[in-house]
Parts: sequence; structure tokens; C-alpha cells
Amino acid sequence: MSKLIQPHGGKLVNRIVDADKAAKLKAAAAGLPKITLSAKQACDLEMIAIGAFSPLTGFAGKADFESICRDMRLANGTPWPIPITLAVDDAVKAKLAEGGRAALYHRDDTLLCIISVEQIYKHDKALEVPNVFGTEDSAHPGAQAVLEEGDWLVAGPIDVLTVTPQSEPGEQFTDHRLAPAKTRAAFAERGWHTIAAFQTRNPIHRAHEYLTKCALEICDGLLIHPLVGETKPGDIPADVRMACYEALIAKYYVADRTMLSVMPAAMRYAGPREAVLHALVRKNYGVSHFIVGRDHAGVGDYYGTYDAQEIFNRFDATEIGIVPLKFEHSAWCKTCEGMTSAKTCPHGPDQKVFLSGTKVRAMLQEGQRPPQEFSRPEVADLLIKWAQSTAKEAAVG
Ligand code: ADX
Repeated sequence: MSKLIQPHGGKLVNRIVDADKAAKLKAAAAGLPKITLSAKQACDLEMIAIGAFSPLTGFAGKADFESICRDMRLANGTPWPIPITLAVDDAVKAKLAEGGRAALYHRDDTLLCIISVEQIYKHDKALEVPNVFGTEDSAHPGAQAVLEEGDWLVAGPIDVLTVTPQSEPGEQFTDHRLAPAKTRAAFAERGWHTIAAFQTRNPIHRAHEYLTKCALEICDGLLIHPLVGETKPGDIPADVRMACYEALIAKYYVADRTMLSVMPAAMRYAGPREAVLHALVRKNYGVSHFIVGRDHAGVGDYYGTYDAQEIFNRFDATEIGIVPLKFEHSAWCKTCEGMTSAKTCPHGPDQKVFLSGTKVRAMLQEGQRPPQEFSRPEVADLLIKWAQSTAKEAAVG
């Protein structure tokens, strides 16, 4: 019997319908109002469909929306930090009715699912934005996405026909796109009981590698679980990152203690609240421990370095379930000659190898590897190739 952690809310959701039901829904869809999803909404739909957002079975209703924004809980009290909503504009809203249904389409026109419309309500952005993002600054990429969305929210359970459309093969990572039921089965097969997950939207540099290996010292296995859904312009594309992860794992990780799989969520850059969401989602994937380092899911300087760790203190550990593994800012120390943090190293910042993102980007574009104390050469070489090709494209375009 599997000893893996229980999913959030107790039961793993699966909103993907069988072939018979899919055929019936497809026939019905032609006569239903149509909603074309944004990239973020399509990511959310996939996360709900596969059970990664358990216990959610659809897009949030008003009571849940308000409770989540105010208290980081669903209306029934279950912890949930960010509302997962379906925003539409006035024109789409005019075609919908409570108690009816609507057909949701990918932007490539693939029919994704049917929603049973339980509620249509005003999108209270003034409640959502400051609470979820801790700022009202429209320059914040997550806040901006919400502010630009439609003014109405459509709530109800979804029945999903297509999880991932075929139009974006380069972004699918089919071999690594394991749903929570699949990662759970993979952990059980490997005999892992304690698993640490590492969320990332970046290539794995030495500091990231250090956190994952510290976690591996105390857990049976490591799930490297990059987010591959929508990210902001300027973030490194998922296919480039995947090549980096594979090269790094092949050379520097123990194969039978490490697993690479992708999480198809959109990034919200909501810092502390998103750290809680990232942890709860990994619990659904069967993970027992979750790495939270410096400024997790942060952007710019909107959040304090350790806000994303402190937020976990606002919950009872048993209701979160998954254990946050909190790491201090880590870097190579020239005197210690190894990866360190302020917890383990007495030396000052002058001894540390710190590089800003801007500096690293400039080095890569010039074909220069960052120091190996910052990034493994195999990763640096892949990033150089990418940085130089994008610079060339920009020059041509
Ligand atoms: S994130 O948006 O996914 O959080 P990133 O990929 O940079 O961004 O970080 C992945 C994880 O590594 C996060 O938990 C983050 O806090 C942590 N992290 C990144 N760099 C460091 C560092 N130098 N020291 C400690 N933790 C770090």
C-alpha cells in the first residue's frame, strides 16, 4: 500500500471525461456559447483537469473567490491562496446564463471543455489584486494580467475533452508531462516515501542545485518540477530550460534518486501566496517536502526575501500537510570553497559569487560562460547558444 501524502482536500480530482462522454459533449458544444481562453486560463484548465489543483473541480464561485482573497481559504475553510477564475468580458458575458453551459476553446480553436455555468459575478479586482499580489502596481506582471482580464467571472465545474492541444508540440514535453496520478505511481514504483519537489522557472544554477541536493540528503527522492505554463516576457523559454535540466541531471545527479517532470501551470509572480499554491499543488503530485528558498515566485522587489517562507506560519502545519523546506540565500563562498548560506558560512558578501540576472544575460550574449561557481559549464553552453540566437533574431527582426 502506498504511504504517499494525501491529496489536498483528501481526494485527487480528475475532470477528464471518457470517450463516450467526450463524443456527446463535442456534439453539444456546437450549440453552446463559445469562450476562447487566454494562455493563463488554458493553463489553469489543465491544472484543474489533471487534479493538480485538487480539490478544485472548476473555476471559483463568488464565496470561494472572496474567502480566498481575504483569508487564503476556500469558503469551506480549506487553505487555498490564489483564486482560480474564468474572467470574461461584457460581450462574452452577454451570451451566457447561469444554469446553462458554455464551450471553452484553446486559442488555436481546439475544443477543450464544457463548463456548467453555476454563477456569473462581477470580477472584484480591487479585492483580488492587493490581497493576492500585495501591491496595486499595474507594472507587476501578475497584477497586470488580472487588471487586463474581463470584468466578469464565470464559475462552475468543468468536463474536459482535451487537456493539451496539439498546436504547441514544442511546449508539450509529452514524455515529462506527468499528471499527479502518474507521479504518484512513479514514486510508488521507485519505493520513494519522502520526496522533495523543486519548483523553478529558471535554469538550474549552482545555488538551485545546492538546495535540491541538501533536500536529497534527507528525502528518498527529488522531483525537479519546472513550471512550463505561461511566463512573462523576458523569462527563459521552457524548451531551453528543459534542455538545461536534462544536461545537468545527466552529469550531476544520481539517476535513480532524481525525476524530472513538468508542471503546466501559469506563473503569477505572487511571491508568498504563490509559494503556498506551489506547495499545495506539489502535495497533489504526491510530494512530501517542498523547497522554498529566497524570494520564491517573486519578481522585482515587491516581496521581502523570506516572505514566501514566513507565510507558511499563518497555517497549521497539518492543514498544509506538505513540509516546506526553507533555505536561506545561498551562494558559492571563495573562502569555504563550496556552496554556503549565512546559516553555514561566517564569511562576508565580498567572498560570495553573486551575479545579477542582467550581468548573466550580458555574459551569455557575448558567448562568455559565467563562473563555474555560479553555473555548470554544460548549462552555460546551452544558454549561450540560446542567448546568441535570440540576440541574432532581435537584430534581424
Ligand atoms: S521561482 O519563481 O520558481 O521561485 P527560481 O526558479 O529562481 O524562481 O527559484 C526556484 C527556487 O529556488 C525558489 O524556491 C527560490 O526561492 C529558490 N532560489 C533561487 N535562487 C536562490 C538562492 N540563490 N538561494 C536560495 N534560494 C534560491
